[in-house]
Amino acid sequence: MKNILVTGGAGFIGSAFVRYMVEKYPEYNIIVYDKLTYAGNMDNLLPVSDEPNYRFEQGDIADRETVRRVFNAHQIDTVVNFAAESHVDRSILAPDAFIHTDVVGVYILLDESRQHGVGRFLQVSTDEVYGDIESGFSKEDDPFLPNSPYAASKAGGELMVRSFHVTHGMDTVITRGSNTFGPYQYPEKIIPFFTTEAIDDRPLPVYGDGMQVRDWLYVDDHARGIEVALMKGVSGEAYNIAGEDQRHNIEVTKRLLSLLDKPDTLIKYVPDREGHDRRYAMNCDKLRALGWERQYTFETAIEATIRWYQTNEWWWRKIKTGEYLEFYKKQYEARLAAAE
Ligand code: NAD
Ligand code: DAU
Repeated sequence: MKNILVTGGAGFIGSAFVRYMVEKYPEYNIIVYDKLTYAGNMDNLLPVSDEPNYRFEQGDIADRETVRRVFNAHQIDTVVNFAAESHVDRSILAPDAFIHTDVVGVYILLDESRQHGVGRFLQVSTDEVYGDIESGFSKEDDPFLPNSPYAASKAGGELMVRSFHVTHGMDTVITRGSNTFGPYQYPEKIIPFFTTEAIDDRPLPVYGDGMQVRDWLYVDDHARGIEVALMKGVSGEAYNIAGEDQRHNIEVTKRLLSLLDKPDTLIKYVPDREGHDRRYAMNCDKLRALGWERQYTFETAIEATIRWYQTNEWWWRKIKTGEYLEFYKKQYEARLAAAE
């Protein structure tokens, strides 16, 4: 491993991985390749922008010509693919971009990786491919039962990765992370969305009864889990990365409000997300056996996360304009009008 291409490295988890890897491995060149969609943000990479082992290239993973140029220019030997459309609600409103990036884009990146003799290809995936799990814990060889267009597109991307391993003998590894939180997360996902809305005393639209369960993983633990899978994972295998810290959405919402010293009256129960998965939970013994252990829990990391949004308004206020407001209107206006 010398020249690592990190696709989608200007997003939330990808940028945390880049910030971590650039510092930890000065002997590796980390090349970020990102389309800079609404979710891509160069501010996320400011902490490494002057580092000699970091480079940035703008482009779409589904654009074969540009991908090819970047592979040649940087002699890429390793790929870590974070690039995705990642928000479930947007996949319900407009799924096209999800198929483009999460399926076609993954295929093109794989195909170019193969043609350029890339060694390891790591695909960052999600617990959502398993679908809703009423009780127990999803394991790596459980069947895929994705329920949203987002989850289905991620499952499609994973299956392409598997096929390139089996058919072409490519050295691939897949990680499936659980719900991730921390600084620099685009304020459409529940924790940064509710935190920044509550700071402005605006309503928090809790879907349905708020009793859905998500398994919370701190972003730095997710980044280290990907590092461990990249370095030690067995070719052709998938690894769950779980926070092992499941909480009801309403509990998460009330904890945010108490840390912000804001009243529960900001909570509005709104009509549910269509096809809303009730619970995710994963077993992550397989990654643990490679030496990974989480370092944070929801409780140990949530306060610092909230404080980060409180002290970094410069980062999120400029995001909450333009396209963001159009999305907000489509997603929430009617829901909030129908709130109980
Ligand atoms: P994000 O939406 O914050 O970032 C996605 C990044 O990909 C952005 O920088 C965007 O510009 C880039 N991108 C999108 N389409 C692209 C394209 N066609 N070509 C190149 N770049 C493109 O996402 P995130 O929350 O950081 O998630 C990163 C990855 O982790 C995704 O693959 C997601 O499915 C997966 N994941 C996320 C979570 C979570 O809780 N956020 C949990 C498990 C897995
Ligand atoms: O589980 C991993 C997945 O976690 C990742 O693959 C996705 O990329 C990531 O977006 C996340 O998906 P979720 O749909 O679980 O995350 P989100 O933050 O959108 O929602 C978390 C829970 O909160 C979910 O049950 C829906 C609920 N919710 C969310 C929003 C945005 C609300 O009740 N109100 C809201 O306004």
